[in-house]
Amino acid sequence: MEESIPLENPLMSRRQLLNFLTGAAVAATATAALYPAAKFFVPPAEGSEDGSLLAKDIYGNLIPASQILAYPLGTRALVAGLAGEPTYLTVREDGTLHPWGIVDNCTHLGCTFPWNPNDNQFQCPCHGSRYDPEGTVVRGPAPLPLKLVRVAVAEEAIWISPWKETDPRTGKKPWWV
Ligand code: FES
Repeated sequence: MEESIPLENPLMSRRQLLNFLTGAAVAATATAALYPAAKFFVPPAEGSEDGSLLAKDIYGNLIPASQILAYPLGTRALVAGLAGEPTYLTVREDGTLHPWGIVDNCTHLGCTFPWNPNDNQFQCPCHGSRYDPEGTVVRGPAPLPLKLVRVAVAEEAIWISPWKETDPRTGKKPWWV
């Protein structure tokens, strides 16, 4: 004997379908809105084979590019770079990040130093060395320009990698390579 199949309530089906479609639309919208942020907070990797690393803050949290780019033009933002080296990133006048970062490590005896926006210089408090905005020595005793790293932005990720090419400030092989 065949089992009887209950008749479907067409109103209920339509409501269920509408609920489903509404839910799906909301989910799709929320997913689209959250995707860029979610993608950043779940990066594919925090490092790569060429030695690149994602910039982090002092607590080891990844720093979204939008956070740095929201700072006033000309800002020198300090992040943790290669091997945790404190590294200055520059927000350029066109609102992008400068393609090189400057390692916060004085070439005299290794002190860290602040950016002085009034003098437009990095000024080492230990023995008075001064560097121009690109890290070239303008006053000793520092003997060498500041070490550079390469900076690249991919969506929200800030990648920092070793600078191995010619030092654009001296036209020579970098002293740190
Ligand atoms: Fe910077 Fe000496 S460590 S001037």
